[in-house]
Amino acid sequence: MIPAVKSGKPAIEGGKPIREKNNFLVFGAPYIGGEEIEEVIKTLKSCWIGTGPKVFRFEEEIRNYLGAKYIVALNSCTAALHLSMIALNIGKGDEVITTPMTFCATANAIIHARAKPIFVDINRSTLNIDPNKIEEKITEKTKAIIPVHFAGRPCDLESLISIAEKNNLFLIEDAAHALGAEYNGRKIGNFGHVTCFSFYVNKNITTGEGGLVSTTNRDLADKIRILRLHGISKDAWKRFSDSGYKHYFVEDAGFKYNMTDIQASLGIHQLSRIEEWHKRRVEIWKEYDNSFQDLPLQLPLPEEPNTKHSRHLYTIILKTEELTKSRDFILQALEKEGIGVGVHYTALHLHPFYRKLGYKKGDFPNAEYIGERTISLPLYPKLTDEDVKDVISAVTKVLNYYKK
Ligand SMILES: Cc1ncc(COP(=O)(O)O)c(C=O)c1O
Repeated sequence: MIPAVKSGKPAIEGGKPIREKNNFLVFGAPYIGGEEIEEVIKTLKSCWIGTGPKVFRFEEEIRNYLGAKYIVALNSCTAALHLSMIALNIGKGDEVITTPMTFCATANAIIHARAKPIFVDINRSTLNIDPNKIEEKITEKTKAIIPVHFAGRPCDLESLISIAEKNNLFLIEDAAHALGAEYNGRKIGNFGHVTCFSFYVNKNITTGEGGLVSTTNRDLADKIRILRLHGISKDAWKRFSDSGYKHYFVEDAGFKYNMTDIQASLGIHQLSRIEEWHKRRVEIWKEYDNSFQDLPLQLPLPEEPNTKHSRHLYTIILKTEELTKSRDFILQALEKEGIGVGVHYTALHLHPFYRKLGYKKGDFPNAEYIGERTISLPLYPKLTDEDVKDVISAVTKVLNYYKK
């Protein structure tokens, strides 16, 4: 293969792009195999397309994969976060501690539960919530901590569990990025009171839209199972089956958060490939790490001892003080080279809604520092070696050109 490009005039300055417009490399794309397609067709032909046998099979397979106790499949991770808080009686007047370095869904779910999100700054290297800064934010109103395993790097769970236990708080993990990640030899999904996963299109496995909760508490799982479908009694999904008409009973004012068999049909086969895909993610990650050593950027921190990083996102942090252009300009320059990029994330407290809650610039300096400098590069198993080389060429060419 031709080696990666190291220098040259960037496309944004009128140079030749690494990839032409009609060959643009998207930032993220799912891998949908033939088995997924066949399974969806079988499900459609069966006419049982709502919540049914495929959802229960998917729940059982995920349960085995995680080595977890109870799994309840839902239609998103946002729903999982929301229902976890409802089921734990978190509501009006309560405070929930979380990180500003996350997708808005984490804090929005706290708002949906009618509680108040209390942000705590991150550690600048791990990009995860800094456990050393949590206790000073705990008040008599605090009910839970929602850490996010950013990009798939497990948080410092030992510290988080000990803070939660000491202060009698619930630990609800946002593991939207972290399916397959491990901490001290056990998969994420076996630590907090509840763990929430996402199967959104760009996640390590996808069901189109989808999510689930994992918990060791049977009562909590039962409660979430009822709440996911209007609050109606357990076997409501069977009420139209051939096992005889059954009345259903509304036990709570629940939600419409159930996963469907069409979604689960995708998930079953996606899950069977997760380890093979992980290997490819690691390969691409190493290729990026090796190629970016001499550029004005901070590489992602290596995998920490006794953990497995799920390699959901590869995020570089630009050393903007060594560049003649801003991060936002570099984002545009990479897009002009034909390479899709992402930003994970602009610190959440700086978004208009969260500013209205009283948060302002300067509140969380580490999250703000990262939010102004970070760029996520394509990282998914569908990438060919040629695609990976093009990403490396574009990043190298652009950063070398704008290096001071
Ligand atoms: C950290 C984080 N939390 C929660 C979510 C919400 O997941 P979903 O789209 O499944 O509701 C996402 C989605 O991207 C996420 O990245």
